[in-house]
Amino acid sequence: MTRTTTLLRQLLNASRLTKAVGAHNALTARIVEETGFDCVWASGFEVSTSHCVPDSNVLTMSECLSAAQDMARAVEIPVLADCDSGFGGVNNVFHMVRQYEAGGIAGVCIEDKQFPKMNSFVESGQTMLAAEDFAARIQAAKHAQVESDFVVVARIESFISGAGTEDAIYRARVYECAGADALLIHSKERIPRQVNDFRENYSGGLPVIVVPTTYPEVTVDELEAKGFAMAIYANHGLRRAIKATREAMVRIQIDGTTKNVEEELAPLSEVFALQGMPESLKRQLEFEESGRTAVSRTGAPGGSADPAPAEPE
Ligand code: SPV
Ligand code: MG
Repeated sequence: MTRTTTLLRQLLNASRLTKAVGAHNALTARIVEETGFDCVWASGFEVSTSHCVPDSNVLTMSECLSAAQDMARAVEIPVLADCDSGFGGVNNVFHMVRQYEAGGIAGVCIEDKQFPKMNSFVESGQTMLAAEDFAARIQAAKHAQVESDFVVVARIESFISGAGTEDAIYRARVYECAGADALLIHSKERIPRQVNDFRENYSGGLPVIVVPTTYPEVTVDELEAKGFAMAIYANHGLRRAIKATREAMVRIQIDGTTKNVEEELAPLSEVFALQGMPESLKRQLEFEESGRTAVSRTGAPGGSADPAPAEPE
């Protein structure tokens, strides 16, 4: 089976647009996979929200890694982990890549902001690193990886921090030179003007990723036609789940019964399928049978060494 690192690399370099979706645990990652997406984005925003803490490096690297590993164990598609600004300096990035790669993650994305980083949609705290300092982190990441296909994505926050296309393009060239495998260009504009501008002016060879959270009208075909490699729908499952969960709780509270939400619930069969319950029951039966076969081949203690096959129950 192809390794997920190789798969992610192939997806990023394919001619069609790769579609990734944000997740925060094994369940949400599995739903991303089952609905046919190419890649799981282990989103810092989602994982932070699932712990009810701000998306500003409040969680430790180990907590983020643990969530990403849970996701990677639940799916076969690649997991690209959002690693904020690398959890510190060069040595933190080095350690982080060793840990994430050993944890079965296909690639990491680090952004050129100072630690602790602030979520890109918050107005304050968008302080960028000098390009050379971020280049050093990219180089540390590339030196740390063991397997050659492990992916390191360099995320450019120029537009988020108020700088323009010129700064973003300059950084893109520096990060490419430092060895990044792909670039992520982020924008919080309501239209994809900045990211398109970046794509048109970036003449390097790296795949370019976008996160169309604030410009939701853009389509897969449009992004593909512009030459983007990957779109990350970073938080849509989480935001839908918050709304749906809240609506159900309020309804039950008001109505004093669950009957009016029944139609909107996932059936228990779907929940069991997500748990892997059918496979687990089948496995149970198969191993019980093989255990009986082992006993019947060996014979009971003190009995014949070559007994008759066990009677069916
Ligand atoms: C995330 O999903 O954590 C991201 C994307 O980094 S954003 O929230 O847009 O910064
Ligand atoms: Mg993030």
